[in-house]
Amino acid sequence: MESIDQDSPVNDLPEHESLDRTFREPIDEVRFGQAIATLLPIELEIGSGKGLFLTNAAQSDPSRFFIGLELAAKYAREAQSKLERLKIQNAVFIASDATRVIATEVPDESLVAVHVYFPDPWWKAKHKKRRVLSDETIVHIERVLKPHGELHFWTDVLDYYEIAVPRIVELTSLSGPHYIPEPTSTHSMDYRTHFERRTRLNGLPVYRARFVRNVQ
Ligand SMILES: C[S@@+](CC[C@H](N)C(=O)[O-])C[C@H]1O[C@@H](n2cnc3c(N)ncnc32)[C@H](O)[C@@H]1O
Repeated sequence: MESIDQDSPVNDLPEHESLDRTFREPIDEVRFGQAIATLLPIELEIGSGKGLFLTNAAQSDPSRFFIGLELAAKYAREAQSKLERLKIQNAVFIASDATRVIATEVPDESLVAVHVYFPDPWWKAKHKKRRVLSDETIVHIERVLKPHGELHFWTDVLDYYEIAVPRIVELTSLSGPHYIPEPTSTHSMDYRTHFERRTRLNGLPVYRARFVRNVQ
């Protein structure tokens, strides 16, 4: 099996996005419609970046289908090409604004997990509405999770963690935050995502939370 990004350096990523950016490409509705119609349990990643998490997850669990939504079309295309090179068929990367897609295209109780790893913090107050874990998106995440479905949120930005985690607790009936111990890494790419790799190799902390949708 071909390995993934064995030689990528620690700092192979741009810093967290802080510039204004407008996304103009419409979502590929056909590909998204095919993906969401799968009969396999679906996990969705918001802001999949260069795709390390989803690619590894799809390889290790063929019984599930993985959808990565990524604003940067270049990253989504490159991650999709890698899936095709590795002949991984239970995953797809789609260039889109995940906040809009989750609000308008994802049916109630359709996902077994939502993953949000190292979201851009959008520090400036005027950019607050661009934060992916906005109140509106938090409510949609609970809506689209199946009973027992999970939300995973990891970040290197303590402020973001300290704002988003209490909002999830206040706005939803998800249980959590559940504690996630720091995973051990056994090889140079054994990290959840590229941003987790960079953060930990630079000796910085990662803040992790897991929430679970309660059975009604
Ligand atoms: C800091 S990077 C983290 C990427 C990856 N999750 C990781 O941990 O390596 C944040 C990513 O979220 C993407 N992003 C920001 N807003 C988004 C949105 N509304 N919809 C989809 N992707 C978004 C950015 O383009 C960027 O690739």
